[in-house]
Parts: sequence; C-alpha cells; structure tokens
Amino acid sequence: MTPKVVAVAGATGLVGRQMMQVLEERNFPVKSLKLLASERSKGKTLTFKGETIPVEVLSEDSFKGVDVALFSAGGGTSKKYSPCAAKDGCVVVDNSSAWRMDPNVPLVVPEVNAHDIAKHQGIIANPNCSTIQMVVVLKPLHDAAKIKRVVVSTYQAVSGAGIKALDELKAQTLAILEGREPECSVFPYPIAFNCLPQIPQSDAFADNGYSTEELKMVNETKKIMGDDSIRVTATTVRVPVFSGHSESVNVETEKKLTAQQAREILSKAEGVVVQDDLSKQLYPLAPNAVGKSETFVGRIREDVSHPSALDMWIVSDNLLKGAALNAVQIAERL
Ligand code: A2P
Repeated sequence: MTPKVVAVAGATGLVGRQMMQVLEERNFPVKSLKLLASERSKGKTLTFKGETIPVEVLSEDSFKGVDVALFSAGGGTSKKYSPCAAKDGCVVVDNSSAWRMDPNVPLVVPEVNAHDIAKHQGIIANPNCSTIQMVVVLKPLHDAAKIKRVVVSTYQAVSGAGIKALDELKAQTLAILEGREPECSVFPYPIAFNCLPQIPQSDAFADNGYSTEELKMVNETKKIMGDDSIRVTATTVRVPVFSGHSESVNVETEKKLTAQQAREILSKAEGVVVQDDLSKQLYPLAPNAVGKSETFVGRIREDVSHPSALDMWIVSDNLLKGAALNAVQIAERL
C-alpha cells in the first residue's frame, strides 16, 4: 500500500488516542498524520511514532490533500464535517452514530461484511461498540445455522462514555469508600457500585421504552449482517468496569446447533477466540480482553428452555475492536 495522508478528528479523546496507537502498532502506512480537535485543544501536542504533532482546530478546510480521515468527535461534528472531507476526495471512517443507518453509507465490521466497503461514497460508518463484538460472533453461527432471533443484555464499561466518565467512576469510588457523598456530572446517578440501564446516559428513551443504545443494537445488527429477518432485542446496561464490554447473548437458530458444534465453528472464525473450559473456570473476562484485538466467547451452552437456541458470554475491548481497531481495519481494507 502506498503511504497515505491520514487525519484523526477527535484525536484528543479516548477513542482518538486509541486510533493513533492502533495506526502505530499495526504499522499503517502513514505518509503524514494530521490531528484535529476542538478550539479547546488549541496549543496541545500529541506523539505519534516518536514525533510530536500539534493538534489543529477542525474546520471545513482541514481535509485538503488528506486520503483517509478517522472521525471520533461526536455525531454533530461528524454530520457537519464528514461531507466537507468527502467533497475534498478524502474517505471518512466515522465512529459516531451520525451516518450508520444512512442507506448510502456502508456500516462495516470487516470480519462480517468487508464486501460493503466498496460501495462507499466518501463515508463509511463504524458500528456501535456493543454491536461490533456481537456480530463478529453471530456471523459464523448465522452462516452455519441461520439465526432467527437474538436476545442480548450488555454489561458496558465506563470508558465507552469518554474520559470524564472514567474520572467520575474513580472519584465516586473513592468518595463512597471514604464515606463521602458521590458527585454526579456525567451520569444521572452514581455509576460506582451501581448498574445504570440507560445508555447513553444523556439520551431520552424512545416512545417504545428502548434506549438509544438498544435501538442501535437492534438496527445495526440487521444492516451489518445484511439480513432484516433476524429479530433482535437488547437491554443495555452501564456497569462500574473501567474498560471492556461484556454481553450475555441468547441466539435462536433455524437449524439446531449443539454447544460443541458452536465452539468448533467459532474456534475457526476470524477475530474470535473461544475461552470455554468450565473445568478450569475458563471464560472471558473484561480486564483480560483489554488491549487485545480479538473478541472472546465462552459459557457456550444449549438453552434448556428452547429446542434450538444457545446462550453465550461475549467480551471485547470496547475502545479497540469496539471502536479504534475496527476503524483502522476498515481503512486497511480500503
Ligand atoms: P477536545 O478535546 O478539543 O474537546 P471523548 O469522547 O473522549 O470525550 O472525546 C471527544 C473528542 O472529540 C475530543 O477529541 C474532542 O476534542 C473532540 N471534539 C468534540 N467536539 C468537537 C468539535 N466541535 N470540533 C472538533 N472536535 C471536537
């Protein structure tokens, strides 16, 4: 691949920093790197491959001469600036939810639907973190036995809500342990020692009672898998884990799969690691997944309440496969 001029929009955020790290670790052929953020970051510098790079203020003119831009600066910023980038011939890989359900924008997890990348018209969307790790595991099961219905409950880490949310979890944990009243600014209730069934914490629930995150999981799964017939329902919950999302997933298939057949299929699947040995208490755990590229699956068992359904536990690093790594993998395939 010839070296590319790459931009990271939202470079000072948690995901933006991970994007830079992944570009460096995977030795993406970067000719030069442009770092973009808001006015607040004027004067800041960041390091890439030992080189100090100034953070520039994102503007409509930021993308002249840029080949690929990785965006993780929020939906509003992406809605405003992605079309400017695309107009200047730059391909945007956007981590926000702004474009995901746009019929002209491919929504891509390379292990599942890399073929959709070629359909892009300047913008490619990176799916929701919880959806990415789930579909990496669902796709090989769907190919083998056709999935009819998915019931998922998530246990999502605080890093998914950004740097300020991580600081809030730390401060609240200390406060509660020291007998002080925890202060809330990012989350509506304390996240320390608690589980919050509202993601994102700032969004209102839909009229049908679903949260935004739950609707993303329902709709994005169908688009990525290219199959509207799959029925999906989700309950998404923020838990006081710093990083790594966990999911309890029930999968009903048209053709019955035994737990052993599912393990065999998944052990050969790209990007998936089966960690499932109950005799050794081996199952996926969020802290063990942090820093890893793969999605881990375990506790695979046949649902005793249904003739052809499986239960499983899926864990991945939400900032890596759930965000930065998936975006860089899309850029690599471009
Ligand atoms: P900044 O640091 O200048 O505010 P996180 O999700 O971890 O909070 O990160 C959000 C990222 O998006 C940060 O890099 C932030 O930059 C960037 N960002 C937010 N709003 C804008 C904006 N209006 N223009 C450019 N970058 C933005």
